[in-house]
Amino acid sequence: MKSLFIVANWKSNKTLSEVKEWVEKLPVNVSSVDREVIICPSFTLLSDLKNLAINKNLKIEIGAQDVSAFEQGQYTGEVNAAQIKDFAKYVLIGHSERRKNFKETNQTLEQKVAMAKNYNLVPIFCIQGNDTYIPSGVEVVAYEPFFAIGTGNPDTPENAEEIGSMIKQKGFKTFLYGGSVNLENVKTFTSMPSIDGVLIGKASLDPLEFSKIIESS
Ligand code: PGA
Repeated sequence: MKSLFIVANWKSNKTLSEVKEWVEKLPVNVSSVDREVIICPSFTLLSDLKNLAINKNLKIEIGAQDVSAFEQGQYTGEVNAAQIKDFAKYVLIGHSERRKNFKETNQTLEQKVAMAKNYNLVPIFCIQGNDTYIPSGVEVVAYEPFFAIGTGNPDTPENAEEIGSMIKQKGFKTFLYGGSVNLENVKTFTSMPSIDGVLIGKASLDPLEFSKIIESS
């Protein structure tokens, strides 16, 4: 059996009290499954989520949703890789919401990947199709087509598999699918040979639904 990645992207959601509630309600058995479960909250919640997970003995890893393209210094509002490394093992880079709303370019994304790698953060690099540029140093690629994000209209597992096998032929090690993954369809993706896991937005916000998705994966 392959070891699957289940990544929760909370986007710009949840206050501290809501995170406490999420952790409280998450069934502890989530720790007993053989999965790399990665939760990506807002920067403000990285520290608390890490401590809450330790206190509850939850086997989860923490990821950030973005990283500065710059080192520490005069970059008001930025959160840099050295700061993130205190709390997280992973970082999402190149999500289409950032490309679209914050005009992130290939050059910026390349700098972000380099910065993450310098501080031993593992980039989970989001692509929107087989032709999306992927900077060198990336090992984990997440295919998230625009039409499938937050729409309830996922890509087909067959198409995701086709993209996955092309990405793997290019030498990338781990391939994830994201976009309207839920309890009903998760297995159809994870059972595909080239797909090593899923990235889940909306369906990860509810702890019970999320834990059921993990069990069904
Ligand atoms: P969704 O989001 O599961 O809500 O479609 C996925 C993502 O954007 O990572």
